[in-house]
Amino acid sequence: MTNSSIHKLSNEELQVTIDEIATIVSESDYVVGMTGAGMSVESGIPPFRGVDGLWTKYGAPKMDGYSDFKKDPTGWWNRRTNEKIDSHINELRHALTNAEPHVGHYALVELEKQGNIQSLVTQNIDALDEKAGLQNLIEIHGNRTKLRCIECGDRVSLGDFVPLYAPDPCKKCGGIVKFDTVMFGEPIPDDVMTAARSEINKADCVLSIGTSATVRPASGLLWIAESLGATIIEINPTETKLTPICEVSLRSTAGEALPLLFKTLSN
Ligand code: APR
Repeated sequence: MTNSSIHKLSNEELQVTIDEIATIVSESDYVVGMTGAGMSVESGIPPFRGVDGLWTKYGAPKMDGYSDFKKDPTGWWNRRTNEKIDSHINELRHALTNAEPHVGHYALVELEKQGNIQSLVTQNIDALDEKAGLQNLIEIHGNRTKLRCIECGDRVSLGDFVPLYAPDPCKKCGGIVKFDTVMFGEPIPDDVMTAARSEINKADCVLSIGTSATVRPASGLLWIAESLGATIIEINPTETKLTPICEVSLRSTAGEALPLLFKTLSN
């Protein structure tokens, strides 16, 4: 499906569906947001799949990044500066460096402040949710601005510093340190997986925003929520694997739908 084939909702059609979502959210006790790369597209960060996706453009990356890292962590860190960096990494790194939260991120912050959503599980590593001010935030695929010890899980914020060579071993346990971002082939750290699962167990409504719902175990949480009786709502310009189990699917973008949802729930 190309973007041009996506039916653009009229303002009336959009508001009717927003009203439907607002009713479900306001009648729910525990609403959990689950965001994916589509949430950050309006901040200038390309998604991975779909017509404008990085993997669509450059092909999917190797799925064994983590085993490469574990074989030779120091060499991995050193190669980051010496070897030709893959084009998709360059494009993604440039976008991530310049990205700022957009109105959709700030709408989620306001929805959390006024108690319409209780937590946000994001698959994004761009730290934009944290920057926008989300409080109960679970970064299930990590955060690009942090380092993490793969032995004890201790995380250290990098601020704007990006290490070019292997950082010192973990100060807590002397373990190997890597970016907090979960690599392909790397298990999701126990602490964030447990926290995310705990939120899903409490949810009677899950707002899936900007995810193709294709990468497990993160996306599997959406089906678990549904199996536990939660109402699933999707905000995504295109259909996804999740669409068939959604109570409502809004063919809109995060930046268009979320401020409208906040406005509707504030009235
Ligand atoms: N607003 C909302 N959704 C959007 C927007 C937008 N402005 N633009 C695109 N989308 C939707 C696309 O239709 C697509 O369904 O966002 C989704 C992005 O899907 P993916 O690129 O597959 O991203 P995601 O679901 O987050 O991928 C999960 O895969 O590559 C790994 O680790 C990476 O966390 C990522 C994981």
